[in-house]
Amino acid sequence: MSFPPLRDPFATPDPTPSRPVDPTLPIQGTDSDALLSRWSAVQTGYLHDPYIQHFVPLRQRRSQRRPPVINRGTWVRTLAIDALVERFLEVTEDKERAGSEIKRQVVSFGAGSDTRYWRLMERLRIEKPGKSPNEQPRIDAFRWHEIDFPSMIKKKAKTIATTPDLLAPIRGTDGFESVHIDQSAGTIVSPSYCLHALDLTNLPSLAPNDIPNLDPSLPTLFISECCLIYLPPDKVTGILNWITGNFGSAGLLIYEPILPHTHFGKMMTHNLSSRDITLRTFGTYPDLRSQARRFLDGRFTAGTAKDINELHDKWIPEDEIRRVQGVEMLDEVEEWKLLGAQYCISWGYKEKDAGVNTWAGWRGLEDK
Ligand SMILES: C[S@@+](CC[C@H](N)C(=O)[O-])C[C@H]1O[C@@H](n2cnc3c(N)ncnc32)[C@H](O)[C@@H]1O
Repeated sequence: MSFPPLRDPFATPDPTPSRPVDPTLPIQGTDSDALLSRWSAVQTGYLHDPYIQHFVPLRQRRSQRRPPVINRGTWVRTLAIDALVERFLEVTEDKERAGSEIKRQVVSFGAGSDTRYWRLMERLRIEKPGKSPNEQPRIDAFRWHEIDFPSMIKKKAKTIATTPDLLAPIRGTDGFESVHIDQSAGTIVSPSYCLHALDLTNLPSLAPNDIPNLDPSLPTLFISECCLIYLPPDKVTGILNWITGNFGSAGLLIYEPILPHTHFGKMMTHNLSSRDITLRTFGTYPDLRSQARRFLDGRFTAGTAKDINELHDKWIPEDEIRRVQGVEMLDEVEEWKLLGAQYCISWGYKEKDAGVNTWAGWRGLEDK
């Protein structure tokens, strides 16, 4: 006679089969870091952003402020990216201004909880001093696309759908009819703003027309604010080639850390790896030179890269620097300089035809 094997009554029960954990969750979590850094910069008075409150969970609203050097970095990065985006949208050619159809588009990779679309819509309503009515950027002349992982996009779509302040500019003058929000898929399709659920590693296998309302015949600015660095190098190369292969007139701007071999760079790598996060192209584009070079390798016709120190010294207007000096004391000047060298914005573009001036607003910024 045989007995069933005896069980140890004190052993922990067999783990119940669990659902596989999504390996991209740690990367998705980096959006919260970026959001709370911007929230800190807004709360302290560096940035104006009445829309961010809708994305910050109540329990995190009182979270500790970031140190002054971090607030400053967020401020410089935000203003510099805003400047590049706004210059692209300043449609100055008369033939482009004719009619009211969409003339340009912006695609934000890994947009997370970013609020740039709403801040921009608010700012573009304010007349630019020193520019004729004909030179004012037009808010109805562009379409804004955002891409992120499906679970991130679903959360964002829900917040937008339930927040009148966020919904208003998307409805625009067309009314609600032309805005399609699918909360279960997390997508939004409208003439002004579109939200797409997509793992960017799959982008090179798609045709631009697979993405609703994306028109490859329009001049298009792609933005990666701390996103492409999480993708494997061959996927990033594939995305740059996808852009230049499919879009006649295209620009790309990238914000990300550089200098992986400094003490700070090693510390960042170590801290992130303890959260299961790898900066996949940190070593592939480790300095300003390789950051600029990547655009030429990706078949853009021009590429430039500047670190946060240079952008601070050359791009931020003096009155804005004076204003921020009154916002918060900065005692750690040496630390600020070290940190400013660790992050850069790089950008590049290609024109459809010689003689077309789509990226005229960006020219001259290389030497500024
Ligand atoms: C550091 S956050 C930056 C968020 C926003 N761009 C900002 O600067 O505030 C990185 C974002 O990229 C997204 N991301 C990373 N890899 C991605 C991928 N393969 N496909 C889609 N989104 C991705 C993450 O989900 C996250 O929202």
